[in-house]
Order: sequence, then C-alpha cells, then structure tokens
Amino acid sequence: MDNDDKLEILLRLGNKISRENNLDRLLALIGDFSTEIVSAERCSIFIYDPQKDQLVAKVAHGIDHLVIPADKGVVGAAIQTGEIQISADPYHDMRFNQDVDVEQQFVTRSLLVIPLFNKEGKPLGAVEMINKNPGPFFNNIDAELMVLIANYVTSTIENALLYEKIKKTQTNLIYKLSTAAEFKDNETSAHTLRVAHYSATIARAMGRDQPFIDALTLVAPMHDIGKIGIPEAIIKKPGKLDNEEFAIMQQHALIGYQLLFDSDNDLLTMAARVSHDHHEKWSGGGYPKGIRGEEISLEGRIVAIADVFDALTTRRPYKEPWSIERSLGYIEEQQGGHFDPDLARTFLAERDAVAEIFCRHQEEPPS
Ligand code: C2E
Ligand code: SIN
Ligand code: SIN
Ligand code: SIN
Ligand code: FE
Ligand code: FE
Repeated sequence: MDNDDKLEILLRLGNKISRENNLDRLLALIGDFSTEIVSAERCSIFIYDPQKDQLVAKVAHGIDHLVIPADKGVVGAAIQTGEIQISADPYHDMRFNQDVDVEQQFVTRSLLVIPLFNKEGKPLGAVEMINKNPGPFFNNIDAELMVLIANYVTSTIENALLYEKIKKTQTNLIYKLSTAAEFKDNETSAHTLRVAHYSATIARAMGRDQPFIDALTLVAPMHDIGKIGIPEAIIKKPGKLDNEEFAIMQQHALIGYQLLFDSDNDLLTMAARVSHDHHEKWSGGGYPKGIRGEEISLEGRIVAIADVFDALTTRRPYKEPWSIERSLGYIEEQQGGHFDPDLARTFLAERDAVAEIFCRHQEEPPS
C-alpha cells in the first residue's frame, strides 16, 4: 500500500468524522469505518479506566456492555507491552481470554489489537479488530492501516476527556459562585442544587429537549447570584423586611441580570434571563418589570416554581420550614396566579420525583 492510498483512506475518515462531535457517535463511526477498511467481522474500542484498571468498551459490535480487566487477554497484552498484537489462532494462543466468547457464544478466529497511549505514554485504551473476513488472519497491512486510524481514536478520546474536564470545571465554578451568593444568605449550596433538579424535573416532564434541560440545570443555580450586591444586614435580617429593605432586596434580580448578561454566550444569556425573570408572576405584579404570562421566559417561569418551593420547604432567617404537603398546596393554590398553570400542574404531577430530590439533597453537593 503506498502513501496515496493511505492518504485517501485518511481523508475519507477525516471527512466522515469532522461533522460529528459526540464522543460515542464518533467512536461508533470510526469503529464502522475500521471494520470496513480491514474487512473485519467486528470492532471494539476500549477506553482505559485507571482507577479500576479496566477497559470499558465504547464501541463493541454485537455486545451491549463490555468491561474487561486491563491485564488479561490479547487486549491486556497490548496495553501491558505497548505493542500491537496479532493473534492468528486465539484458541491456541496463551494470551487469549475466552471469557467474552463464552459469555457471548461467539467464536473469535483472529484478532488485531492496537493499544492507545497519550502523549505522556499513559494508556488511553485499545482498538480491537475481530475475525478477518475472509481469513485466515490480519496481516501487517491491516496493522499499518489501523495504526493510522488509531491516531484519530487517540485524539478523539483525548479531546473528549479534555472537554469533559473543562465542562466539569465550569459546572463546579458555577456552583461555587452561586453558593457564594447563598452563603451570604446563610444557606448551603444544597439549595442551589435542589433548585437545579426541581427545574430539570419540570423541563423534562414538559418534554423539553436534552440541550435545554442541560442548559437549565446549569443556569438555575445562578438565579440569586445578584444577592452578592445586597447588604448582608438585609439578607440576614431575622424578621420581616420593611418596604425600603424589600425594595433593595428586589434589586437582586436586575443585578444578577447585569452580572450575567453576555450577548456572545447563549448559556450566560439564558442565566441572565433566569435571574431577571425568576420573581415575575404569571398574572403580573412581580418584579423587576411586572410582565405577565408568556412575556416571562419559560426558564424564568420554571425556576420561579422551583425557587419558591425550595424557599417554602426550608428554613430562612425570616421563616420556619413548611412541610412538603403544605408547600405543594401553595404551588397548587397559585396556579395561574404566581405560577404558569401548565408548569405548576406538571410540578404537582411530579411530586414523587420532587420528594425524592428534597430528601436526597439535604446536604452539601459533591465538589
Ligand atoms: P427566598 O427566601 O429565596 O424566597 C424566594 C421566594 O419564595 C420569595 O420571593 C417568595 O416568593 C417565596 N417565599 C418565601 N417564603 C415565603 C413565605 O413564607 N410565604 C410565601 N407566600 N412565599 C414565600 P420574594 O418574596 O420576592 O423574596 C425574595 C427574597 O427576599 C427572598 O428569597 C429572601 O431572601 C428575601 N425576603 C423576602 N421576604 C423577607 C422577609 O420577610 N425577611 C427577610 N429577612 N428576607 C426576606
Ligand atoms: C475480547 O474478546 O474482546 C477479549 C479477548 C482478549 O483480549 O483476549
Ligand atoms: C434531574 O435530573 O436534575 C432531576 C432528577 C434528579 O435529581 O435525579
Ligand atoms: C440555551 O440557551 O442553550 C437554551 C435555549 C434557550 O435559551 O431557550
Ligand atoms: Fe431570588
Ligand atoms: Fe433562591
């Protein structure tokens, strides 16, 4: 095989995968492509889990769920030695681990395994090609091709891991910042978590799509971030606020909006809308604008229910906690008043999920 052939193949693969950004789908595409290119019967792509010293299959043709120890079998040999493994006759091969075949009632006739390593030389996973078709077994050209493809797999996995890490950092940062506002309020970050989960529950039950649910889960905890700008004496006042104090308190919705609004960033803009709208009321008379009905953003209407329910069920400097029953009763009573009636009905219909979240998130979230 000359360099032009290799280039052609890589261009074909590059063209296929450049339009996909979901890790699982990317690996599935690469798996299918590899199977075709070396004419194998099956392909498995494993990601290494250093904590458990296991290989977890992200792609495994013909199998739903596959986890194997990282020190067993031909795949294990590839990881341990760092070298490509070819097995021409697995059942007479000391390295071969028959467990998967036995469980799957499958017969492995030949194997080609390419181990994957990151730039620091740490194992990242493996690509396993099963049963050359027609046989008898995989050859050096197949191995050469798979090494080329494996480079794509390595960078795909590395990018995905990096993306996951950034996403996790971002989520942590959001929870920490939101909690900073709540700390001033003598609350734990469990409040921000519960509001996120109640909101997600409503959005899911309303049939909203996953990107919206994910975005809402991220931004809901920020609804009160504007309380950072409110004097502590007002926030922590044990009793009822007088009119002047309450007017100052109400500014937290607009302060949060100004803090978060960023026209270049959809997520922050959504967060800004939530902060702006979470004290507006369906029938009007809320703040800061006194808008009503669908003038209020959907995310603002959802978080309004989640926030009030959480305020009612928990202790505040100015009130004792209400029971779940009494708090649900308030949501019911305010259908079409304070709250969007469809969303309120949905929340009430999800009472089991709501109670579950209430019980599960009484303490600090994992950091
Ligand atoms: P928060 O404590 O997170 O309460 C959020 C919302 O839950 C309130 O928005 C209100 O709509 C609802 N809520 C909370 N407790 C009760 C209650 O006992 N009965 C009823 N019917 N609804 C309740 P709101 O009123 O716009 O208040 C915004 C924020 O202002 C509150 O956030 C809290 O931090 C503060 N705040 C409100 N009233 C008082 C008060 O009397 N004393 C003190 N110290 N702070 C207050
Ligand atoms: C497998 O069948 O996927 C594992 C077999 C081996 O690595 O020996
Ligand atoms: C959610 O997924 O955010 C709500 C349900 C749960 O807390 O598990
Ligand atoms: C998003 O901003 O990513 C969710 C869509 C929306 O703003 O409604
Ligand atoms: Fe608020
Ligand atoms: Fe709140």
